[in-house]
Amino acid sequence: MIKVGVIGATGYTGEEIVKILIRHKDVDLAVLQAVIEKEVPISDILPELKGKTNLVCKKPDLEEAKKKAELFFLALPHTVSMKIAPALLEAGKKVIDLSADYRLEAGEYEKWYKTKHIDTANIEKAVYGLPELFREKVKKAHFIANPGCYPTGAMLAIAPLLEKNLIQTDNIICDAKSGITGAGRKPGWNLENPDIKGNFKAYKVNSHQHSPEIDRILSEIHGKGIKVTFVPHLLPLERGILSTVYMKAKSGLEYEKVAGVFREKYKNCPFVRIKPEGEFPQLKEVACTNFFDLGLAVDKSKKLIIAVSAIDNLLKGAAGQAVQNMNIMCAFEETEGLTN
Ligand SMILES: NC(=O)c1ccc[n+]([C@@H]2O[C@H](COP(=O)([O-])OP(=O)(O)OC[C@H]3O[C@@H](n4cnc5c(N)ncnc54)[C@H](OP(=O)(O)O)[C@@H]3O)[C@@H](O)[C@H]2O)c1
Repeated sequence: MIKVGVIGATGYTGEEIVKILIRHKDVDLAVLQAVIEKEVPISDILPELKGKTNLVCKKPDLEEAKKKAELFFLALPHTVSMKIAPALLEAGKKVIDLSADYRLEAGEYEKWYKTKHIDTANIEKAVYGLPELFREKVKKAHFIANPGCYPTGAMLAIAPLLEKNLIQTDNIICDAKSGITGAGRKPGWNLENPDIKGNFKAYKVNSHQHSPEIDRILSEIHGKGIKVTFVPHLLPLERGILSTVYMKAKSGLEYEKVAGVFREKYKNCPFVRIKPEGEFPQLKEVACTNFFDLGLAVDKSKKLIIAVSAIDNLLKGAAGQAVQNMNIMCAFEETEGLTN
């Protein structure tokens, strides 16, 4: 049993982490904190938890948190995590940060997030927690930078081909569509909002803050700089990210060869499901799960590979992946808490 704390327990991803940890057999959920006026049962804030837990959510108090838990999830906005993580790390706690604060090198972070990084010393200590690509590093990690939701959906659809040097790297295009919970819980941001209801649009075209994260990690895998064209869209749905990635093969490839590369890479990955030829993922099939679903098409005459992926942004794109990382770090069953 490990004692765990969730800081930012009342946000979208914090709520998902709490729901998972309540049913996790190896976790004693010992600390819940968020910006609230006074301490209250978490089920008063998150009614879905009524009858499932008597846990109380308290105001942020790091001294109290440090006394009560060994591992912390930071489900906090970027810029807030980097104020909290250093003290927890200093006290020898394991930390899994869901924000973007430790995913980029400091200069890139300051450029894209337009704010000064105040904990640059810990950036290089953070292991990028995408288990399907970096499982061995996650096993040994004390501090995890949990990946962004769009990068998870995009990179798992690209990395295996990149590792095998099968694709051209100057024209990878990722066209991604996300439900509205990707933006966090905020007033008026719901399916009745006139900007969202009955609408579908691209935003931050070629200028989304997840672009440098995708480029950084894929460049590390490739060993040379890569820039992916990344275009996000906003879907009038609660949750889910569907990404369509277009890649040019270096030489004409058959479907079987391409599918074989993904099957081999992910053969021991319990949350990856590869569709049979001719079938493609749907958001309904991954909603409220930690799965990454993938469908592939190959146009040999154009040397074109199309990979379509689907994830739930709040689970495989955030909270589920964070718990998956904890399970691997702590040598628990990788799927514990994540399958029902
Ligand atoms: N939503 C997604 O799909 C997704 C996917 C991947 C990664 N992420 C990342 O995960 C993080 C959390 O996202 P989210 O969607 O859960 O955001 P959210 O719904 O806005 O929740 C943020 C939480 O942090 C709390 N908080 C804010 N300032 C705090 C402070 N100083 N001390 C303690 N708690 C504080 C908030 O409390 P109040 O509500 O009371 O202010 C809330 O509980 C973000 O960095 C986000 O980028 C989100």
